Amino acid sequence: MFGLERIRRRLRREQPGIQGSPLEIGGRSIIDHIAPSGLFLELDYFHFSTTEYGRVWFVEDWPERLGLTYLHDIYSFPGNLRVSIFVRPLDPRLVLQSVKRELTQLRAQRLSGQQEGKIPDYGVIATERSTEEVLRKLQEERAPILLVSFYVCLFARSLDELNKASRQLEELFLDAGVRAHRAMAKQEAGIISMLPLGVNLLNQARNMDSHALGAMFPFVSSDYLAPRGHFMGINRANGTLVTMDIFEEENTNLITVGNMGSGKSMFLKYQVEQAVITGTRCMVIDLEGEFRPLCMDLGGTYLELSTAAEHKMNVLDINPEDRDPLTEGYYDFLGWLEVALRERRGEPSLSAREKNLVDTTYKEAMAGAGVQQEDPSTWRTPPPTLSTWYQVLRERGTPDADELAERIARYAVGLLAEAFDCQTNVTIDSSLVVFDLKDVPDELKPVRVRQIQSFIWSNVLREMRPTLVIVDEAWWLLQDLETARDLSAMARRFRKRYAGLWLSTQHAEDFARNTDAEFIRDTASVVLLFAQNPSAIPLLEGRFALSGAETRELVVLHPGEALLLTRHHRIPLYIAVPKERYPLYTTKPQEVIAFREGGGESK
Ligand SMILES: Nc1ncnc2c1ncn2[C@@H]1O[C@H](COP(=O)(O)OP(=O)(O)OP(=O)(O)O)[C@@H](O)[C@H]1O
Ligand SMILES: [Mg+2]
Repeated sequence: MFGLERIRRRLRREQPGIQGSPLEIGGRSIIDHIAPSGLFLELDYFHFSTTEYGRVWFVEDWPERLGLTYLHDIYSFPGNLRVSIFVRPLDPRLVLQSVKRELTQLRAQRLSGQQEGKIPDYGVIATERSTEEVLRKLQEERAPILLVSFYVCLFARSLDELNKASRQLEELFLDAGVRAHRAMAKQEAGIISMLPLGVNLLNQARNMDSHALGAMFPFVSSDYLAPRGHFMGINRANGTLVTMDIFEEENTNLITVGNMGSGKSMFLKYQVEQAVITGTRCMVIDLEGEFRPLCMDLGGTYLELSTAAEHKMNVLDINPEDRDPLTEGYYDFLGWLEVALRERRGEPSLSAREKNLVDTTYKEAMAGAGVQQEDPSTWRTPPPTLSTWYQVLRERGTPDADELAERIARYAVGLLAEAFDCQTNVTIDSSLVVFDLKDVPDELKPVRVRQIQSFIWSNVLREMRPTLVIVDEAWWLLQDLETARDLSAMARRFRKRYAGLWLSTQHAEDFARNTDAEFIRDTASVVLLFAQNPSAIPLLEGRFALSGAETRELVVLHPGEALLLTRHHRIPLYIAVPKERYPLYTTKPQEVIAFREGGGESK
């Protein structure tokens, strides 16, 4: 932001034909007030404060076909790097004349050598051949010849950092066969040539044809383009589109971490939409109830799971498709009971004796409802509900059974019976199912989540169909040992079931709360880091091998900007959501209200 205006004025003064009025030159704008007071020009770098350093290179020559990999490395250099390219078409007649002259000279040189019986100079022969090719292209294809200038500028926070990054960049140039020079004593001309003013004061250029020029443009780079994948966003470093097919990754798990309002949910919603449209089923555990507009718009199934809600799930459901439905069903029920009956998080809530009791009374309740383990024809009979099991316990009449019945009473026959003592009345064969937990009291959330998790396992994953399970605001689930264990089991086993687990959370610490959360973080094949608080950096830095430039950038990212990390890529990303879909995704209250008032949600 340093004095663009000042430079423009200098250009006006120095360039004939561009004159500003004296009134304009003497006037003051806001830019004059915020611009630094001076620009210090050194031999091969410049700085305009103690924390803003820069260096400009001009590229003198580069290989005819600069490999995309090298170019990609340069464009994606992990530092604050800018590239400026000037292209000027040359007069084809002049080019033709000079190419013909050059070809004649080369031919003459070769022929005279031949006549004198000298050993052929293969260098001359090769140049002659390529000049012939240029001539052919010029005459046959009328391919234009262009004068191309290529400048690079690197910014850093200190001279030390600038020198270090400069050495790395120069190594890259060397590897790529690019001959680049620091603009010695021409840094000011370099800065001006870097600005988007179309003024080329450095005046260094090389001739090339349009094919070679085409290969230099960043948007031809194949940076993370999976043809069958989803659109993830735009690479902020070079403007390329980034697409990814999660099912092609090592595993299908993804995590996003970022501050409040940094764009995590927006990203997830956009991905859900693309997934559903392209035939991937999505199950969303939504703690904030914010996927509703999207779900309604896509015609998905939206399940409100508050206590009085109409949608019900029976905790004693069995899956007739399982190999041994009663045993699987028993373990699901036991897992649910353990969460429902626990006094304190993380502590076992059922003794071995009680588990035995659950085992026998479970079978008895099932048999009472006509469901027999040994008779598959009974597996589709409606199973008992929680109050039936409660009655079986009561009928036992032993102190153990009475105590257990007492503990489960509020779910089976008490206040919560409306939500938990019921037959399942939801079918989830749609491609998008959202479990809304917004109105579920905090105390009941783990019980509900446990139910949803077994529901997902048993009802959904039985058929091999690409499926994503998405948990927004996953911190809630990660802090709870049982649900975190369930999530890590999903993370472990999902790949083989053609499914993926996608979690989003605000704090990096959420993934360090227990070994299951750590496992999920450390094995996810895709990580998206959105804007972070400085205090989160130490937790992320080592874990994701972030460079200095990356950590500095993470604390200043805008909403929708992120760093995408995969096993082989590190891409600065901007999640470019279509503006027509934005109203369905936004969480800004004023925009949500405007959307509702416009009748959006009733669709
Ligand atoms: N990719 C984007 N393009 C445009 N605006 C965005 C983008 N991402 C986020 N925003 C803006 O930021 C707001 C907050 O985004 P979002 O709801 O995704 O944040 P979040 O990270 O999920 O926050 P929280 O952790 O509080 O849920 C959005 O309503 C939108 O206005
Ligand atoms: Mg969110």
